[in-house]
Amino acid sequence: EGFLPFEHEPYFAFGQPEVAERQRAAYRAVREKYVGREFPLYIGGRAVEGEGTFEVRNPADTREVVWRFPKATPEQREEAIRCAGEAFEDWRFSDPLQRATIFKRAAELLRARRMEFNAVMGLENGKNWAEADGEVAECVDHFEVFARETLKWAQGNAVYPMPDEHVTTVYEPLGVVVTISPWNFPAAIPLGMSLGAIAAGNTVIWKPASETPLSSLLMVELLYEAGLPRGVIQFLTGTDEVLGDSLVDHRDVRMIAFTGSKEIGCRIYERAAKVQPGQRWLKRVIAEMGGKDPTVVCADGDIDAAALGIVQSAFGYAGQKCSACSRVIAEESVYDELLEKVVRLAGELKVGSPEENGAIGPVIHAGSAERIMGYIERGKQTARLVLGGERAEMGEAEGGYVQPTIFADVDPKDPLFQEEIFGPVLSFTKARDWEHAIALANDSEYGLTAAFYSRDPRKIEEARRRIHVGNLYVNRKCTGALSGTHAFGGYGMSGTNAKVGGPDYLFWFVQTKTVAQKY
Ligand code: NAD
Ligand code: ALA
Repeated sequence: EGFLPFEHEPYFAFGQPEVAERQRAAYRAVREKYVGREFPLYIGGRAVEGEGTFEVRNPADTREVVWRFPKATPEQREEAIRCAGEAFEDWRFSDPLQRATIFKRAAELLRARRMEFNAVMGLENGKNWAEADGEVAECVDHFEVFARETLKWAQGNAVYPMPDEHVTTVYEPLGVVVTISPWNFPAAIPLGMSLGAIAAGNTVIWKPASETPLSSLLMVELLYEAGLPRGVIQFLTGTDEVLGDSLVDHRDVRMIAFTGSKEIGCRIYERAAKVQPGQRWLKRVIAEMGGKDPTVVCADGDIDAAALGIVQSAFGYAGQKCSACSRVIAEESVYDELLEKVVRLAGELKVGSPEENGAIGPVIHAGSAERIMGYIERGKQTARLVLGGERAEMGEAEGGYVQPTIFADVDPKDPLFQEEIFGPVLSFTKARDWEHAIALANDSEYGLTAAFYSRDPRKIEEARRRIHVGNLYVNRKCTGALSGTHAFGGYGMSGTNAKVGGPDYLFWFVQTKTVAQKY
């Protein structure tokens, strides 16, 4: 409470030449400081090497190896779980005020280094300045929000009193939590899950995506510098053979916090359900997965605002967000006008290098570009291509550049409408009327985000009630959830709806103890 009031971290104004120059300078400094280096694992508070290393490549030009990370061995995985278990015996009883203070200090440390963190992210996952800045600012928010949530949850909760008993309800941590994360938000997502664990008094095995380990490692080191006892987080990088199933299956792991694809999320959910010999609990799993997020545009909606929101949410970071708009469902009477406006705005987006703040950067790697082009080629047979549809050239650079692509008149049964493509590909589908549009929006196994544009309070009320997603945005774009305000997580096959950054998130990381005492 003493930390209030809370304000979201403001973004940098890169339109100002001096701010842009600071970001360029940060890129130069990051190149000098980090490129070519080999980084460690952290186990039991010690920096250690693995057995061999793997390369992290710059998606803007995959000929460039930016840094290397260790391949952890099976023995190191076992050692990390043992160390996390030992550290838990202290950390579980740590003072919540100490935890909150560490998070506050980390927020301050990060504020001073945001441009550096932006540049690291740009070099390993291809985010342009604004996209990286949005994520790093979210990390500052996470520190501030989790500081407050730590203190809130430490207070326990009220129960209806008894005349002759003193009864309390308190929240206790679980144990060793493995956090497994994707490459598309390589700082904010593992940080959110790990802070959830640590705030509640658990210890962590932090397993980042192999495409983007430095954005994670810098966060871990920042927490150490802020005063987190080093044994609380074990940082492991390496192959999925060593750090996939065998981490999930491990007897001594109490919880898995996962964000990533539906395929791996379902696999983890299923495997974690099996009780291993000697395991003394049912493992807890949170799994936040993919999306196929619709924007519904009603005839009475603000068509210009909708067009802008659609383009920003469909093509920001080349559409590689679980929250990205990938389906536009518009009422017949405004369909053509909206399509024309969206095509015009999207056509202005220039493909360019993230380091030079290009509007549309590369997709994460060649395999991803091929997968996306597969959808595009099939789409050319089944729908009407109205923009893009090809790879883009970036001079000499070898990267997965794909043009912003729009298909019109997409059938709701088409894979373009049903499957997560995770690239700069947008589908338009016509609805008979606004109610049909809501029904089409709900015609998906996913349910992560949606946007709804209308000026009619009755339609908005219906949309609020009936659109089946975890994050519904009315008259605004469907990306850009803010920690502490837009609790994030989906319905259906988008996952367990854990709602990171929300008021109930820490409940996933605790168990509840009721103590009734007679005097
Ligand atoms: P992915 O599922 O391929 O990988 C995610 C993580 O799982 C990686 O760290 C990977 O090494 C690890 N992994 C792989 N095999 C494993 C196994 N057998 N056991 C345990 N871990 C294993 O996902 P990705 O390609 O990195 O990320 C893109 C996906 O993430 C998209 O589907 C996107 O929608 C989703 N995503 C969801 C959210 C959300 O909040 N719902 C946020 C961001 C991304
Ligand atoms: N939390 C991210 C967003 O809202 C994925 O766009």
